Amino acid sequence: MKIIVGCDHGGYELKEKVVPHLKSQNYDVEDVGTHSMESVDYPVYALKVARAIADGRADRGILICGSGIGMCMTANRVSGVRAIQISEPYAAKMSRRHNDSNILCLGGRFIGQDLAFEVVDTWLKEPFEGGRHQRRVDLMDSLAAESIKEDR
Ligand code: RB5
Repeated sequence: MKIIVGCDHGGYELKEKVVPHLKSQNYDVEDVGTHSMESVDYPVYALKVARAIADGRADRGILICGSGIGMCMTANRVSGVRAIQISEPYAAKMSRRHNDSNILCLGGRFIGQDLAFEVVDTWLKEPFEGGRHQRRVDLMDSLAAESIKEDR
């Protein structure tokens, strides 16, 4: 599995721990930066990772900023991306099983190393269940939800 990882200055310290953690498990990892604590703009890195996922150049993406929120908002503007911002393993599991999430956004100022590793490992290993969830993901991805008649 190829994993593309990006961060801003708020996520740099955690990214520097997550990348070796992934490599130690023999994942193919591409680190698109940033590579220091110097202040940068998170959308630049979110878009590098999101476009790689949308174009099929990587299987999964991990984005880390201070909160994970700006990264998640930006990544989800790219068609085909299903990014999540979470801080605990149960959400990681359900986002894979039901939503086929393809980018994980973490808050470097929200979460410590050990919990981050548990979230990342859970998220990478959990399968998508497919079935009825595939139909819903397809609706989400095609934006066909706009045409669903509201049942009120
Ligand atoms: C940078 O200070 C911070 O705004 C950024 O890392 C992120 O938390 C934005 O959502």
